[in-house]
Amino acid sequence: MTLIIHPIRKDFGAEISGIDLSESTTTATKQRLNALLAQYAVLVFRKQTLTPPQFMGAAEIFGELMDQQLKKYVLPDYPMVGCNSTDDLPRKNGKLQVRGENYHTDHSNDRCPPKATTLHALQIPPTGGDTQFVDVRQAYDDLPEALKETIKNLKSLHVHQSSRSPRELTKLSPEDLAKIPTALQPIVIRHPGSGRPALYLNTGRMEGIEGMSADEGYALIENLYQRATDARYEYRHQWKVGDMVIWDNQAVMHQANADYDPEQKRFLYRLMIKGVALTAAQ
Ligand code: SIN
Repeated sequence: MTLIIHPIRKDFGAEISGIDLSESTTTATKQRLNALLAQYAVLVFRKQTLTPPQFMGAAEIFGELMDQQLKKYVLPDYPMVGCNSTDDLPRKNGKLQVRGENYHTDHSNDRCPPKATTLHALQIPPTGGDTQFVDVRQAYDDLPEALKETIKNLKSLHVHQSSRSPRELTKLSPEDLAKIPTALQPIVIRHPGSGRPALYLNTGRMEGIEGMSADEGYALIENLYQRATDARYEYRHQWKVGDMVIWDNQAVMHQANADYDPEQKRFLYRLMIKGVALTAAQ
């Protein structure tokens, strides 16, 4: 098996061919794919046909599988595998209320947020339903030096849903909410794999900034979020059936789009890979 790497941007996004992810991989291939994920942050594998166990095997190339937080959206026979399906989505004024419709990083309220998340596409609408990614390592590198200095030691408490969240996250009963963790995370992290500094933002979950007034903290978060979501940091993935895309949650933010016909089915399997506690870039 010879991996062929087609970079999408310099050090951001790569399409990988020459591999059938339904088959087992050698240790050398696993190491190479992990190095590619640390470098490119989003890897795209086209034309894969994966059963749930094969998808789990493919995801395990990148580490140990992590439990889904929303247990109601999993495959009954394979509860590690989440389902991202239009069948489960509520509608408001005829529009689908998709999960993940603003830039975020998965489960940032977990002390050890997932290293990576992966989706495998089974049904895709003819148009729309792309997933967008922004490179928060490059966004950090491009910040003015004075702003880097301002944010270098700052931390934010990440909760299930921020009191100023731009979107409503899945509603939880008080019992379920009590089980959901909260975590104080650095605003600038040192990427656990590549060592690169990166912005760590999630406006749906960040409850201000430690040591700042609420207004000052949210204004700074908004400033950083606007910079990080600039189109020049974006890779927009247009799904095809058979795609498996894996992204690094400490190097990118991602967002879903509800811009497709709600009568068209969109269905993807979802898995997450366990991560480590995050450290500040200093
Ligand atoms: C997500 O935010 O994980 C969902 C991405 C998508 O469905 O496009």
